[in-house]
Amino acid sequence: MSPARKPARSGRLIVLEGLDGAGTTTQVERLASALRAEGHSVLTTREPSDGPVGVLIRQALTGRMVLPGPGGTQPLAPETLALMYAADRTDHLRAKVLPALEAGQVVLSDRSVLSSLAYQGASLPMEWVETINAHAVPADLTLYVGVPIEVAARRRAARGGPEELFDAEEKQRRISKQYEAAIRLRGKREHVVRIDGDQPVEAVTADCLTQVRKLLGRKPGRAAVR
Ligand SMILES: Nc1ncnc2c1ncn2[C@@H]1O[C@H](COP(=O)(O)OP(=O)(O)OP(=O)(O)O)[C@@H](O)[C@H]1O
Ligand SMILES: [Mg+2]
Repeated sequence: MSPARKPARSGRLIVLEGLDGAGTTTQVERLASALRAEGHSVLTTREPSDGPVGVLIRQALTGRMVLPGPGGTQPLAPETLALMYAADRTDHLRAKVLPALEAGQVVLSDRSVLSSLAYQGASLPMEWVETINAHAVPADLTLYVGVPIEVAARRRAARGGPEELFDAEEKQRRISKQYEAAIRLRGKREHVVRIDGDQPVEAVTADCLTQVRKLLGRKPGRAAVR
């Protein structure tokens, strides 16, 4: 797999992106149900993946994996985390995404490389983050579920559960800006569509489905030549 080239494949890769609490997990599940009801074969997946490096990333995000040092423990270096995300992504592509695309499935991924550019790019040079992700396969369609910071925070609070490393509101503000920069950068190579996530769940799904149907209505093969 050469960097940034789309391999020949008959399936479609659709990625949902957004701030923590934007609703990407909710929408991946709802889109999958809607598309299956229309007869599509759908694989839902996520990054960090359920592979070995993905498991480590989840441990780092929840503070269960730390860096020991003379003064006690500290979080992993941002560079380490960025490299782990990139490594998990290549595993994820190989183990799950590419086989499903080759089998002609619609793959719905909860996050991918745009998340790395936005989250890791918030504390590291985005160009470096892009470089270490050179093997990431561009999505056929990326849906950026946009919500105001406050809405995302409210939803996270309502959902409950432990706050992860990236959840603090100030950080979310920075990441939101970084997403804009990431969309500008990545948008040159892949089709990124903004979805208004500050609507009832059903309306967000309907807007996502409009975009997905546009994509699936196109003849396969375009991906191989772009
Ligand atoms: N459009 C919506 N309106 C109101 N509540 C919503 C909407 N979409 C999702 N929610 C609720 O907000 C919470 C967060 O949604 P979800 O888990 O899908 O977000 P997420 O983007 O996957 O978050 P994370 O990035 O942290 O995994 C959930 O409790 C969900 O039910
Ligand atoms: Mg989620």
